[in-house]
Amino acid sequence: MIAPYTESRKMMRALIVYESMFGNTAAVTEAVAAGLRPHVEVIMCPVAVAASKPAPQVDLLVVGAPTHAFGLSRAATRRDAADRTDAPVEIGVGVREWLDAALPLPAARFAAAFGTKIARPPWLPGSAAKGIGNRLRRLGYELVVPPADFYVDGMTGPLRTGELARATRWAAQLATTRSALPAN
Ligand SMILES: Cc1cc2nc3c(=O)[nH]c(=O)nc-3n(C[C@H](O)[C@H](O)[C@H](O)COP(=O)(O)O)c2cc1C
Repeated sequence: MIAPYTESRKMMRALIVYESMFGNTAAVTEAVAAGLRPHVEVIMCPVAVAASKPAPQVDLLVVGAPTHAFGLSRAATRRDAADRTDAPVEIGVGVREWLDAALPLPAARFAAAFGTKIARPPWLPGSAAKGIGNRLRRLGYELVVPPADFYVDGMTGPLRTGELARATRWAAQLATTRSALPAN
């Protein structure tokens, strides 16, 4: 159900908490923020920062992470990723640990999940997005749209052509779905 844009919706706030080792999920996060921004105020927060301070009050929580070993990363897979990049990688906490410890969460009732994973053969099962979605539901959130996977072409990326635009469209759909709006 798509609702028309209204000024009041612009007062809504969305928090995007994300994890990214090689920059692909971070780039998708930017694209998701671009899709949300015409409709809601957006706060982007790397998961290590989210884990270190109280979450702000928001209307919509969006969580994104890369798929590691068929699901959400663990310390061991983050160490593996750290060996493949010169960029600093947070080993201690990822989206899995943050969501496991995420009580109390921000007051949002509504949430959405996205992730990145390898597209080309050999296709691997499992999806960080689905794992996040399941955890958010267990925490009592209503998923506004189904979890979305965005695809990279190799172990460290890059993102497939068109995936950033698809992420922006997914986020715009998320922001304009009536159930994402507070009752008044
Ligand atoms: C340790 C490790 C395990 C991975 N396991 C999977 C997997 O099971 N399935 C998959 O599709 N991609 C897998 N990948 C690829 C990641 O999904 C890919 O690196 C990710 O999309 C990059 O996101 P980032 O740039 O935000 O870190 C794995 C990558 C690493 C480093």
